[in-house]
Amino acid sequence: MKIAIGNDHTAVEMKNEVTEYLKSKGIEVIDFGTDTTERVDYPIYGEKVANAVAAGEADLGIAICGTGLGIGLACNKVRGIRAAICSEPYTAKYSRLHNNCNVLCFGARVIGIEMAKMMIDEFVGTAFEGGRHQRRVDEIMDIEARNENK
Ligand code: RB5
Repeated sequence: MKIAIGNDHTAVEMKNEVTEYLKSKGIEVIDFGTDTTERVDYPIYGEKVANAVAAGEADLGIAICGTGLGIGLACNKVRGIRAAICSEPYTAKYSRLHNNCNVLCFGARVIGIEMAKMMIDEFVGTAFEGGRHQRRVDEIMDIEARNENK
């Protein structure tokens, strides 16, 4: 399993702890930065993570900013990406099970590392259920396709 990870300046410490956690579980990590607390713009890092997932260079992505919102919104602008902005494990689990989300986003200013680890366990350890949920995910992706050249 390979995970692309990216963050803004608010989430460097969280990203480092998450990376260590993923590696301890035998997961390969592609780190798109940022690596310093110098102020940066979260869309840049969201797009990098999303592109890596959309291109198949990574199986899943994790994107972290202060709230998880900005970087999540940026990820969701990349074709093929379904980014889940979560703050607890139930939503992280169902984002995989029912929505087939491929990027997990959260806020380093919102949750602590232990909550992040619980969400990551659910996100990485849960497979898409398919069935009736496939139709609904297809309907979401149809919206993307219909709006592509507007
Ligand atoms: C940075 O101050 C902050 O706006 C950013 O980390 C994020 O929370 C945006 O959604």
